[in-house]
Amino acid sequence: MSVRETPKIAPAEGKLGVLLPGLGAVSTTFIAGVETIKKGQAAPIGSLTQLGRVRLGKRTDDRNPLIKDVVPLADMNNLAFGGWDIYDANCYDSAVNAGVLQRDLLDGVKSEMQAITPMPAVFEHRYVTRIDGPNIKKGANKMELAEALIDDIRNFKERTGVARAVMVWCGSTEIYQKASDVHQSVASFEKGLGENNPEIAPSQIYAYAALKSGVPFANGAPNLTVDIPAIMELAKTQGMPIAGKDYKTGQTFIKTLLAPGLKSRLLGLDGWFSTNILGNRDGEVLDDPDSFKTKEESKLSALDVILQPKLYPDLYGKFDHKVRINYYKPRGDNKEGWDNIDIFGWLGYQMQIKINFLCRDSILAAPLVLDLALFLDLAQRAGMSGIMEWLSFYFKSPMAAPGLYSEHDIFIQLMKLKNTLRWMKGEDLITHLGLEYYD
Ligand SMILES: NC(=O)c1ccc[n+]([C@@H]2O[C@H](COP(=O)([O-])OP(=O)(O)OC[C@H]3O[C@@H](n4cnc5c(N)ncnc54)[C@H](O)[C@@H]3O)[C@@H](O)[C@H]2O)c1
Repeated sequence: MSVRETPKIAPAEGKLGVLLPGLGAVSTTFIAGVETIKKGQAAPIGSLTQLGRVRLGKRTDDRNPLIKDVVPLADMNNLAFGGWDIYDANCYDSAVNAGVLQRDLLDGVKSEMQAITPMPAVFEHRYVTRIDGPNIKKGANKMELAEALIDDIRNFKERTGVARAVMVWCGSTEIYQKASDVHQSVASFEKGLGENNPEIAPSQIYAYAALKSGVPFANGAPNLTVDIPAIMELAKTQGMPIAGKDYKTGQTFIKTLLAPGLKSRLLGLDGWFSTNILGNRDGEVLDDPDSFKTKEESKLSALDVILQPKLYPDLYGKFDHKVRINYYKPRGDNKEGWDNIDIFGWLGYQMQIKINFLCRDSILAAPLVLDLALFLDLAQRAGMSGIMEWLSFYFKSPMAAPGLYSEHDIFIQLMKLKNTLRWMKGEDLITHLGLEYYD
């Protein structure tokens, strides 16, 4: 198979709109961070698009430019933010309520944050049972709600003067859902919107509205959302990139660092027990068993894919994998995670690894929102459409083309991402084959 021709990438001219359904902890930490960084008061730590480099050419060439100097990304100074929430608090008040960032930092960007007020949300209580708010759209059916979102996007573009926009879902985790008949094609989905089909989740209405408006969409939560044939089809026909799902931040991030390492040494696994406490609004939503099930499915998938139990039955054929999330209010956004990993080595001798990760959920997630927004926009300008597998690096439960398994190993994901950037610029892909084996 030959590699497809390098795409022509339209320049990142004008401002980029970043539309965020859900203006809670992650969104406000992201926006406040961007505004603070723009003032030169902090560095974009954790962001590959801002700080990451990519090696180009041979090791002897000594070319390691910043990613943002290789591909034409939108500049952080050229972003405009908008969003929706079921609560009517502006972004400053929402950030204060989320309690992630210190008050003096927030006060430094108060006017910018206060200027972002949530547009009324498309919301159905059945899909997120633990919260309710006053800022909700009304419509005769779900098609009308989709049209109202399309109007919002158009108005946002006019108001802010952005040249393009992307949408990144930062809303609460919806209840567990499997694709059903209504999700199988654009035609059935649109019919379902008109008929108010209960199987169409609010997040899917946002995704539909985004793609119809020429806006790429990424899903930061574990909801099904764009992982359905109808939306995949729409992404293709609209020429829009989509990506998902569920930001890979705390415990699963560490899991996908460690599991490939254990497997690389062919060390066996008896069990992996992961538990967390967190006390933010996300934790409250996940306290509902149906929302937790969505998260659990997303968190459980990583080990199976990385360890390939079918190929290595003696090492990984029988391991026990448990994931618990406990809503514990005093901790707020400062999640604490524990992992107990029972492994075995030479002659079956058992060993244990213990991890205690005291992390900050939204601090880890915010740079991912930035990268996803900039990379989705890049992909769209490069004419790429459908599932962006090269962005799997960012997700706990990465989407893959139908019939293919998704890649969870973070090192493979990073290689895939960087090779995609090299391909976009017509640079040689890096295979890591030693120079001595080239003619
Ligand atoms: N922080 C992390 O590390 C991380 C990692 C992976 C996934 N996530 C996911 O990201 C999402 C956001 O996390 P968070 O900590 O900011 O949660 P949060 O509860 O602080 O914010 C979510 C916001 O979404 C709003 N919302 C819910 N349904 C909505 C709808 N239909 N339309 C518009 N707004 C809606 C809620 O009112 C809330 O303000 C959650 O689904 C979470 O599971 C977060």
